[in-house]
Amino acid sequence: MTSSLIGAARIAYSVSDLIYVIESNSPKSLNSSIVSELTNQAKKKNILNETPELKVLSSISDPFSKLHVQLSKGSLISVIIPSISTNNILINSIPHLYKISNSNKNNNNGGAVVIHIALDKNESNQLGDYTDIMTLRQTGFAILYSDGGQETSDMALIAHSIALKTGVSVIHFFDNDDSKGKIKKFGNDDIKKLIQESDIKQYRDSILASNENKSTELYFRSYNGIPDTSSDDQQNVAAADENSGNKSKNNNNNNDNFFTITENIFKKFKQMANRSYKLIEFFGDEKSESIIITLGSGATLLQKNFFEKTETEKIGLLKIRLYRPWSEQYLLNNVPKSVKNVAVLEQVIPRTTKWTPLYLDVVSAFQNRNYWPGQSPLITCGQYGALKKDSIDVKVAQLFKNLNSNEPSRNFILGKESFKSQTEDSNDFNDNESTNYIESSPVLEKPYLKMLNEVFGVRLYIANSALKRNAGNFETVKSTPEFGFGVLLSKLHERAQLVDLVTRVVKDNSIGISESLHAALSQWLLHKDDSILSKKFGGQITEILTSSPPTHPSIIKIFQSKNLFVKPSQWIIGSDEWAYDIGGSGVHHVISSGKDINMLIIDSQPYTTRTAADPEKRKKDIGLYAMNYGDVYVASVAVYSSYTQVLHALLEAEKFKGPSIVLAYLPYHSEEDTTITVLKETKLAVDNGYWPLYRWNPQLEKEGLEPFILDSERIKQELRNFLDRENHLTQLIRSRPEYSPLITNSLESEIKTKQKSLAKSAYDKLLGGLTGPPLLILFGSDNGNAEGVARRLQKGATARGVNARCMAMDDYPIEDIALEKNLVFVCCTAGQGEFPQNAREFWKHISTTTDISLSESRYAVFGLGDSHYWPREEDAIYYNKPGKDLDARLELLGGSRLTSLGLGDDQDADGYETGFQAWEPELWKALGVELLGAAVEEPKKTDDDMKVESNFLRGTIAEGLEDTSTGALSERDTKLTKFHGIYQQDDRDLRDERKAQGLEKAFQFMVRVRVPGGISKASQWLAMDEIAEKYGSKSLKITTRQAYQLHGVLKRNLKQTIRDINKCLLDTLAACGDVNRNVMCSPNPLISEVHAEVQDFARKISAHLSPRTSAYHEIWLDDKIVAGQAVQDFEPLYGSTYLPRKFKIAIAIPPNNDVDVFAHDLGYTAIADNNGKLLGYNVSVGGGMGMTHNNKKTYPNLGQFIGFCKPDQAIDVGEKVMLVQRDYGDRSNRKHARLKYTIDDRDLDWFREEVESRLGYKLEPLKEYKFENNADRYGWTKGADGKWHFCMYIENGRVIDLPGEQIKTGLREIAKVHKGDFRLTPNQHLILGNIAEQDKEQIEQLLKKYKLDNLKFTGIRMNSMSCVALPTCGLAMAESERYLPTLVSKLEIIIEECGLREDAITIRMTGCPNGCARPYVAEIACVGKALGTYNLYLGGGFYGQRLNKLYKENLKEDDILKELKPMLNRYAKERNDGERFGDFVIRMGYIKATKYGKDFHEL
Ligand SMILES: Cc1cc2nc3c(=O)[nH]c(=O)nc-3n(C[C@H](O)[C@H](O)[C@H](O)COP(=O)(O)O)c2cc1C
Ligand code: SF4
Repeated sequence: MTSSLIGAARIAYSVSDLIYVIESNSPKSLNSSIVSELTNQAKKKNILNETPELKVLSSISDPFSKLHVQLSKGSLISVIIPSISTNNILINSIPHLYKISNSNKNNNNGGAVVIHIALDKNESNQLGDYTDIMTLRQTGFAILYSDGGQETSDMALIAHSIALKTGVSVIHFFDNDDSKGKIKKFGNDDIKKLIQESDIKQYRDSILASNENKSTELYFRSYNGIPDTSSDDQQNVAAADENSGNKSKNNNNNNDNFFTITENIFKKFKQMANRSYKLIEFFGDEKSESIIITLGSGATLLQKNFFEKTETEKIGLLKIRLYRPWSEQYLLNNVPKSVKNVAVLEQVIPRTTKWTPLYLDVVSAFQNRNYWPGQSPLITCGQYGALKKDSIDVKVAQLFKNLNSNEPSRNFILGKESFKSQTEDSNDFNDNESTNYIESSPVLEKPYLKMLNEVFGVRLYIANSALKRNAGNFETVKSTPEFGFGVLLSKLHERAQLVDLVTRVVKDNSIGISESLHAALSQWLLHKDDSILSKKFGGQITEILTSSPPTHPSIIKIFQSKNLFVKPSQWIIGSDEWAYDIGGSGVHHVISSGKDINMLIIDSQPYTTRTAADPEKRKKDIGLYAMNYGDVYVASVAVYSSYTQVLHALLEAEKFKGPSIVLAYLPYHSEEDTTITVLKETKLAVDNGYWPLYRWNPQLEKEGLEPFILDSERIKQELRNFLDRENHLTQLIRSRPEYSPLITNSLESEIKTKQKSLAKSAYDKLLGGLTGPPLLILFGSDNGNAEGVARRLQKGATARGVNARCMAMDDYPIEDIALEKNLVFVCCTAGQGEFPQNAREFWKHISTTTDISLSESRYAVFGLGDSHYWPREEDAIYYNKPGKDLDARLELLGGSRLTSLGLGDDQDADGYETGFQAWEPELWKALGVELLGAAVEEPKKTDDDMKVESNFLRGTIAEGLEDTSTGALSERDTKLTKFHGIYQQDDRDLRDERKAQGLEKAFQFMVRVRVPGGISKASQWLAMDEIAEKYGSKSLKITTRQAYQLHGVLKRNLKQTIRDINKCLLDTLAACGDVNRNVMCSPNPLISEVHAEVQDFARKISAHLSPRTSAYHEIWLDDKIVAGQAVQDFEPLYGSTYLPRKFKIAIAIPPNNDVDVFAHDLGYTAIADNNGKLLGYNVSVGGGMGMTHNNKKTYPNLGQFIGFCKPDQAIDVGEKVMLVQRDYGDRSNRKHARLKYTIDDRDLDWFREEVESRLGYKLEPLKEYKFENNADRYGWTKGADGKWHFCMYIENGRVIDLPGEQIKTGLREIAKVHKGDFRLTPNQHLILGNIAEQDKEQIEQLLKKYKLDNLKFTGIRMNSMSCVALPTCGLAMAESERYLPTLVSKLEIIIEECGLREDAITIRMTGCPNGCARPYVAEIACVGKALGTYNLYLGGGFYGQRLNKLYKENLKEDDILKELKPMLNRYAKERNDGERFGDFVIRMGYIKATKYGKDFHEL
């Protein structure tokens, strides 16, 4: 045990009733030795002749929490902290220390504690690290330092004496030192000379008096809160000002008293022990020109190794022993007046702020004209680096040399690193100007600043900015929280003065102001804190005084202060750097000030780099810190996760009367990061609780409401602990039971355990009784092919009596693999020859380990791939690479093959089945079971079997919804829910991370809402907006087929979502699935009557072809679940097997082909006569977009006409077309099941005849029509009935609020007043339809306000369209919606150069070849192949009349731009009049025209 610690402990024992030792983790021996030392002492008595109580507390048990209660009983308490190296003990104690010193304010004596703290030494320089001590400097405790065994013992005694005599609690700190130097012990009689029994009695009496609420004049308690007559306000300002050096007079008086008492104690101590100490000591030349000011053991080091050895001409050392209270006068009295240069040296390691605390104290002291009237010396700031004893003298000499040089470095390290050059100018300290910092902030951080501007407008006042990246390096003092805090305090003060002045003027009749001015001033006084009314009455005052200028000096002054009338929204903006030094920085000032000040702290540490961040640095959770402190509004938000939550938080923070801290997440690696990167990082952080979204509003608690609102799913452990402690959690769970599994159980471990046990033993039951050889089947599969093969193998094995288990490779505990006798791997190929997601970990391990021997195992591998996926010759290596690699590796590890490697190729006649059929028998043969079981093998279940067995789409959906153990539904139910308009998805951005954490995928559901013809009411828009907000991912998607789409709905919210949708008279039934889907119809009513009639037809045919099952109602709306087959539904059109595949209908009204009528299974082209009367429809059949890359048997197709029908025949025709497809469509191969293949397999005439024979009449010959484009018609149009329509541009149909783009809010505001309808367009835009002339202006204004009237985009952007793709679509191979805008921006540069800005060119993008955004009719199309890689198609018809063709495969962004640039250039120069880009590329020979779908692959 260290001698210093012993010295302090002995004194503590002698003068306390109660001693706490705070147990630390390292080094362990310290605790036990200090405890045994104190136990030894127990044989003795303390100075009151009693045996004190000794308690050992754990540092994680919040040991300070009850201290103030015990102190208030008059106990003499010491706390000993033998080491602070773990658990942030000091930082966590800060709120409690404040409580203790606050209980000593205003004539109260709540009792004073003495805390002895031993600091661990830094290895590089053997000096203690004072970082944490410095964070305590505003707590109101006195801070006293000692060095070495004897001094520590002496100072410990002095500390206790100070506490008793002043009532101020004391922190006494010293370095842990191992010197076994002798300490002169104090006997109780010695001690009593310094601490008399009468002192203790007086101390206790004063506490009792305080408890009884009697005031006593005798004691000062906290040096910055000693008896005081000023208002709370002033006191707080004084406390806060303390750091900047502007102490109030009152405060200094109190400090004077403290110093007088303390000096007397030092004198008395000298008389008693004959050792003398000073509060501040100076060594060196009295005429020094350069001095070092320092605090702590470093001072002793310098003194011994330099000042005591060297001639100290004109140089000196000022050693500070008492750091708090801080007296500028005291300090400067000890500084020679000859000083020109000062170096402040601090023991903070590592340093996290540019300007250290002591430095700031010293600077402000020299700026105090009362005590240092001359010119302030040049002050530099430094810290101790790695120091070797024998070179200290050299280093110090260098330091003085630097000080005396012409341009000394202002920021330096004494030791290892020599003087670092910094260019900061100390003038920054005097600069109190506030600036608008928004422009100078990093690009990516602007979203929050934009939002502040949006929300608070002119009321916004930002006092500072500190948004720089590099940790520990504040660029300027202006960026520090202290600076911002100071500025805001002075603002508050200015406004308080104005309030005083106005109050006096209103009361003072002698001034003789007008009645109106009197009324306005009085009203302003009443409402000065109301943002709206303060503006209103402030405006009135300004108006009155402008029209009759004042003459009275007080009124003139009021007028001059008119910019203070409106209640400001005051913000300090900072970076997460501040979290490294919360207690030490102004963050703490704000938290503890009680002032109505808001702080926005932006954290930009990306989730994926969090562990790589400097582990030495301890970043603290400011939110937790503030909540611990109490009465502070705290919110943790992330704009890329929820705009609405940020909005709520900003508004609530502003409204909260007191300090507010908003922690805002905006992760990025560099300024060049794309939005997608920021979005992904945000999602990862929010999803797994690293950055929980929450709001903590103490005001709500006062109103009896729950103060904590959890806005994200998961919560981090520390926060959970906090809530537990605060007992709020119990209440929260009681009132919101749905949080329970999220919060109370450890989600991670629960699911992990579950998954493990599933993986290990799920099949044990199944296998009981089987006798054949054991077989483990492991698969790697992204989209289900390989998994399907593996599962079939398992069934085949079971049928043959083989003990087979089957699971994903990554789910298998790899350490057991050598024990497996027979192994079969089925693995697909992903990316470019990569392993699929659920096999990567397994491969990583097995490809690098040499520890596994498979000498006892036999194995077989079947790989799935596509030999044409990467068609270039040199890319052949990627074909089935994982299967091949795995096969080779297993051999290398000693395994013997059951059978040779099998390969499935998508290019084979039957795809991978071809290869599999050949390979499978070999496997059974090798296992010796080839003759068994084939007959008993279960036949493969088809989708039709599934439909039939589902009891009209019920399946086990209802039961699945009740199962809370997983966020997913069973595989079969996920197929069925599609018929209900619901797709199970998972957030693919989170897959890897969740997998790494052993969590199941982030399952969520996409809900598609059918809107025939795309027309919905304003009330329905509002309802959808609200549902998205409540249950979805906040945004709404307008789809390419005129439906609403919600994303991110969790299973537990699914039912309520569907209910709410139905409540607003919309529904989701048949929005997906093998049925007729949402019926599309041109939404822009140029010819009103025709349009109304066609719309009516759209609604009717949609209703006519809807499934009749009651399952939808039963599962989602009724709650009455009918078990088994009790209810027999009847589907007159579909029967129990429904259609072979989806079926799509669109109705176009020429000349606009916005619906892409030929891209649908069934198309109606409306024909009107010259008077605008609907004659009927040309009917086209067999259109469809979907195909599979490189699979020539699949292709997109355009519909072909089969004839004309009258309006009253149209439903019948539609029904019959669908029924022919129902009966003839291919039900054995889903890739070949769409109507286009049914027709192509026979021919169009056959199809027409089949339809006509079912109709009983012939279709008429086609009527003439003309299409001009397939785009939306933007802007204002007026219908024949005089009603107005406005078509706005919504990029990719995504309705979302983003900083600076409040599309969702804007449309919500419009929906509240709009009397017409909301029409979803086929190009994902929106029409506000049927606006009466008299309402147009109001709508125009709202459109303008929310910038929704902006149509000044380039022609290419206005004609761009993308599907959703990543992160939700399970089939996406590449980005689409999130990326197309970026690609278009890059193309726009080329377009502008070519002068094609206004030219309409259609460009479409999809994440996979399924074609949801109808890419194959676009003039330019990019279809995802792999991440960042697209196939480029060119030559589609401008009005949807021609398919495009593959131009080049596997292009990255640069390649796409490189290919398109020369074409666009030539198009600009060489096109014919009116020639479209799609036609041009064909004419110029870039591409052949595609005539029929079957030609699509012919290059
Ligand atoms: C994005 C993507 C990349 C692919 N890359 C390759 C490849 O590099 N080499 C290959 O042989 N097959 C490749 N394929 C083909 C797949 O391996 C093949 O379609 C397989 O059947 C898919 O199996 P799964 O459904 O189990 O994921 C790729 C497929 C996709 C979707
Ligand atoms: S086109 Fe492909 S990636 Fe895009 S939404 Fe449709 S299925 Fe998903």
